[in-house]
Amino acid sequence: MEEIYKETILTPLGVAKTTGFLDWDTQPSPFKHYPEFLFGYDFGKIEALKIIELSRSVTDAQQLGKKPYYRLNTPSAGNLHPTELYVQIRGVEGVLSGIYHIDAKDACLVLIEEIEKEGIEPYVGLRHRFKGMLFVVSMVPFRSEWKYGKRAWRYCYLDAGHQAGSVLAAASATGQNATILSDIDSEGLHTVLGFSDEEYPVVALGIGEESERGVVHLKKALMHVCPLDYSEGTRDASAYLLAPKISDAKGHRPEKIEEETILGRRSARRFGTEVLSKETADFVASLLQEVPEPLHAWQIWMHHPSRPDGIYRDGICVDRGEYAKLVCRMLVDQYFIAEASVVVILTTDAFGPGALLGAGIFVQRVYLEAAQKGLGVTGIGAYYDLKLQQFLGTDEAILYVAAIGAV
Ligand SMILES: Cc1cc2nc3c(=O)[nH]c(=O)nc-3n(C[C@H](O)[C@H](O)[C@H](O)COP(=O)(O)O)c2cc1C
Repeated sequence: MEEIYKETILTPLGVAKTTGFLDWDTQPSPFKHYPEFLFGYDFGKIEALKIIELSRSVTDAQQLGKKPYYRLNTPSAGNLHPTELYVQIRGVEGVLSGIYHIDAKDACLVLIEEIEKEGIEPYVGLRHRFKGMLFVVSMVPFRSEWKYGKRAWRYCYLDAGHQAGSVLAAASATGQNATILSDIDSEGLHTVLGFSDEEYPVVALGIGEESERGVVHLKKALMHVCPLDYSEGTRDASAYLLAPKISDAKGHRPEKIEEETILGRRSARRFGTEVLSKETADFVASLLQEVPEPLHAWQIWMHHPSRPDGIYRDGICVDRGEYAKLVCRMLVDQYFIAEASVVVILTTDAFGPGALLGAGIFVQRVYLEAAQKGLGVTGIGAYYDLKLQQFLGTDEAILYVAAIGAV
């Protein structure tokens, strides 16, 4: 993993060499479409499916020049959305049991295959039929590699984490409980879901319960549909087939999320100069301390009266100082972040797909819980890794950064 970390770092020289003109007309399609002849359910028609549209939907559509520009309920590095979402539904009243693709752009669920005694359970570590919903998040690396090259490997897992976090949030908003299923057979799922080398399964989540009835493997793989309109190939397919190790920790789970928060989520593009109340600052600080293992959260508090400026770890100030400008420089000169109240830097000594996925899930929680307090958040994937490590005085790998403040 150390090798992948080194291969995917950003350095000032690397950024200078790769920053240039990007022809957005060549952006690969961010949406996968199954054939029109398949049966499906439109969003908004069946109450039991509400959780699905809250998990993945278009929440903003604009026209930029000749191209439509969509934003989803999940954030994504560069808004490229290298993820897809599938759900197996079994035993839900009024809904055909089967495996569905969630088509956010067309606001519907598309039934790929009906199921009965067979299902995806054996590929997600379950021995019996699961009554309810089994979600699978996949990633489509070329959508991100197209812009970010090798760095995309990290963004795919972070984005997949945000997507998994959205399922957890949708469960919270609809009064249900979702579990992260940590024991997935990535290769088996890759084959059986009909994926090819453009798409890889990442993580599964369950909402419902395992019954006592046995289940069998799917008889044949689902139809293959290319998730892209064109591809130049995936850089290193084997690097995307690594099954992430992730625990179903409490820290991943958002609390009491409202439907409007999910549908109204946006990344902050500027922060206000208004100072957070002590109560709000305490809320943010304790939320960030709930980060699950193997992640650690460093907090850089900036210009806040109830908290001396400086670096905090586990709630304790380990270094006092005004670091706003320096931090912005290390975040590839993103100076709008200087007005945020706190920058959180997630690190780990167990760098890999599981830690990145966990970081995405946690930051999705932070986006939504902070939004419910009227705060703005932006996930930050562009930073100089080694400079941040040096600044913090740590050998731990940098996973992800987020800025939080008034908007
Ligand atoms: C993994 C990841 C990395 C991101 N990195 C940055 C970043 O470095 N700077 C930034 O301003 N926004 C960043 N964002 C936010 C995206 O730009 C934003 O999600 C996207 O433009 C869509 O906008 P929305 O979040 O309002 O829907 C990142 C988001 C994710 C999920």
